[in-house]
Amino acid sequence: MEAIATIVMLIMVSFSSVANALSVNYYDHTCPQVESIVAGASGGPSWDVPKGRKDGRISNAIETKQLPAPTFNISQLQQSFSQRGLSLNDLVALSGGHTLGFAHCSSFQNRIHNFSPKLNIDPSINPSFANKLQKLCPLHNKVKNAGAPLDSSSTRFDNAYYKLLLKGNSIFSSDQALLTYPNTKALVSKFASSQDEFERAFVTSMIKMSSIITTGGKEIRLNCMHVR
Ligand code: HEM
Ligand SMILES: *[C@@H]1O[C@H](CO)[C@@H](O)[C@H](O)[C@H]1NC(C)=O
Repeated sequence: MEAIATIVMLIMVSFSSVANALSVNYYDHTCPQVESIVAGASGGPSWDVPKGRKDGRISNAIETKQLPAPTFNISQLQQSFSQRGLSLNDLVALSGGHTLGFAHCSSFQNRIHNFSPKLNIDPSINPSFANKLQKLCPLHNKVKNAGAPLDSSSTRFDNAYYKLLLKGNSIFSSDQALLTYPNTKALVSKFASSQDEFERAFVTSMIKMSSIITTGGKEIRLNCMHVR
């Protein structure tokens, strides 16, 4: 009797783990064109993405406190990444995600106004770039959506982010921090000189990051902005 119950439980556990495991074939029947649709919308490297992660049904603003902040220095970034099983190599490769997109003033104002008691501007920023950022984001900015693109080609997935970083033209303190350690700086230089090396490292680290185990997921949303 007990043996049967154990076997039934083992079968149930193995089924539920199958149901929760991510799979590259997850949408083969329900949305067979998903890969080609996504590939057609975004340029850049591609890889087999394990899919099927469940979204939660509740969202608490305070939980964003667990994310690394743009004001973090290298040791804080290293700690935040290592807590999730990610290395300094992953940190440098994944920060390359900042080749795309936009930052609001509040995310980098620490660097361009009242940086320290003695200095108004972070001395690691290229002065002419700091000037540009100050114009976009004056001290008492009233423009709600004011900010700056994350690199000079912010709709293109390229390695410009790393080239700019080496020149002091990065947006966040957390970007600049990648130059602190000799080994992370060497990686920045490698990715600045090779788009190919960047893409290879980015793909490896994206697969690693997307495999971080989470619990508590409940649903896969039809519209990612709304709970079903
Ligand atoms: C290393 C730690 C990281 C920090 C501290 C960080 C911080 C930030 C911040 C503060 C913003 C701007 C938010 C705003 O002002 O609207 C941002 C935007 C962005 N980040 Fe990161 N990030 C990190 C890692 C990553 C990773 C791993 C990726 C992806 C691989 C990524 C991709 C992006 C993208 C694409 C945007 C632009 C979003 C948009 O245009 O709306 N970031 N990040
Ligand atoms: C990073 O910041 C933390 C907290 O302020 C500090 O204890 C640490 O020494 C800093 N590390 C570096 C490398 O600046």
